[in-house]
Amino acid sequence: MTSSNREPLLTELKNYLIHLKDLGYTEVPCETKLNLQQEAVAPYSQTPLSVNKMAAKNSKALTAVQQELGDCTRCKLSNERKNIVFGSGNPHADLVFVGEGPGADEDEQGLPFIGRAGKKLTEIIEKGMGLNREKDTYICNIVKCRPPGNRDPEKEEIATCNPFLIQQLKAIKPKVIVALGKPASSTLLGRTVPIVKERGTWHEYEGIKLMLTLHPSYLIRFYTLENRKAVHDDMKKVLKELKK
Ligand code: URA
Repeated sequence: MTSSNREPLLTELKNYLIHLKDLGYTEVPCETKLNLQQEAVAPYSQTPLSVNKMAAKNSKALTAVQQELGDCTRCKLSNERKNIVFGSGNPHADLVFVGEGPGADEDEQGLPFIGRAGKKLTEIIEKGMGLNREKDTYICNIVKCRPPGNRDPEKEEIATCNPFLIQQLKAIKPKVIVALGKPASSTLLGRTVPIVKERGTWHEYEGIKLMLTLHPSYLIRFYTLENRKAVHDDMKKVLKELKK
């Protein structure tokens, strides 16, 4: 197997494992013997050097932000968190999704959007937009630690975490940012955003196109045709912008 067809397979496998976890599996159901003796192939070995270099630059910048964040205790969310949820995906992605804050599953595993809302977001990205979550997007939140009991993050907590979000987005420099829900939209625009009214509208964040849409949790809770169509329409606009 060459490294170019290995990468999409690994991504697919990862998404499948996330899906199994969402279904409640704690082990991988496996009926055949695994061949663990296959030769390891270096990732990206067939990618042109210039592409590798660009990706490396962004991922280096992101790592620097994560290192600066460290084992953060800057706000009280650090008291009860299990893991900091920094973000995941492609540091060189054209598209970044910004959510509100980690829930219980995310806190447990240190990864964003892997619970129910995450499954919905993955569905929107992969089935709705025809993109690959890991390869085509980067996902993070306005606060990196779980607010206890999934309460809304407080103003001070958001403000304390905001410099890291800003640096994260500067490191990735995507073409488009999608703010998921009211808290993310309000944080990125620096004002209270009536999300139901303003979703589907374009804005600008530090010179980057910013689209506001409904949060996947809201969509799950109010699973109406109107809301599904709204998110679908918003993502269509995003795809059009990405293709420019
Ligand atoms: N909801 C969010 O806003 N972010 C997550 O990471 C998970 C659920």
